[in-house]
Amino acid sequence: MSSIPVLTIDGPSGSGKGSITQMVAKHLGWHILDSGALYRLTALAAERGGVALDDAPALALIARGLDIEFLASSEGEPVKVVLGGEDVSQALRLETTGNNASKVAVLTEVREALLQRQKDFRQGPGLVADGRDMGTVVFPDAPYKVFLTASAQARAERRYQQLKQQGEDVRIATLLREIEQRDARDMGRKAAPLKAADDAVTIDTTAFSIDQVLKKVLSLID
Ligand code: C5P
Repeated sequence: MSSIPVLTIDGPSGSGKGSITQMVAKHLGWHILDSGALYRLTALAAERGGVALDDAPALALIARGLDIEFLASSEGEPVKVVLGGEDVSQALRLETTGNNASKVAVLTEVREALLQRQKDFRQGPGLVADGRDMGTVVFPDAPYKVFLTASAQARAERRYQQLKQQGEDVRIATLLREIEQRDARDMGRKAAPLKAADDAVTIDTTAFSIDQVLKKVLSLID
């Protein structure tokens, strides 16, 4: 068991995990694991290599061999993600990549292939780990666990604002449908389904601002 502290932040897409993870990590000076990015990268590499999204052995091989770098960027800029020497930061955040990620994420072989890589992010002084199974599977011994939720409608509206800012042309109704489908797939799968760890603190962020959620999360650690 490691003595390096981990704060796990799990929850469905659009619950505010990404932003809260960034803010808490900055506040504490801890490292970040964006585990969703690993599933997104696997899906992206598969798409580029012409590998079907249900070909478990081939996808596990891709997941194990991913050549990736997370490059820190200047203040306020998102982290740059490089796959095989190519900057894929933008392709990674596309809705289609997220949906494809959720398809490869149902496969036990892929999850196992990514497990050790995720554990390796546990470096001092501490780690904030963002995902679906951080508190249940990857860091079950984490001393701090949070589960963020929000209504599907609120999450669709947040996603809409985010994607609009990135220049993606989307409709809220489509996003809501996709979020509901992705929730069903993430919660219904056999391998590491999306659920709160028994010892996680659940925060419903529907009616809270990001600063209010940040305060609540930090209060668990201070
Ligand atoms: O969080 P993000 O939207 O980047 O995750 C993309 C997909 O990857 C999720 O819908 C989920 O299916 C999968 N995922 C997962 N386990 C994690 C992180 C993400 O299954 N720890």
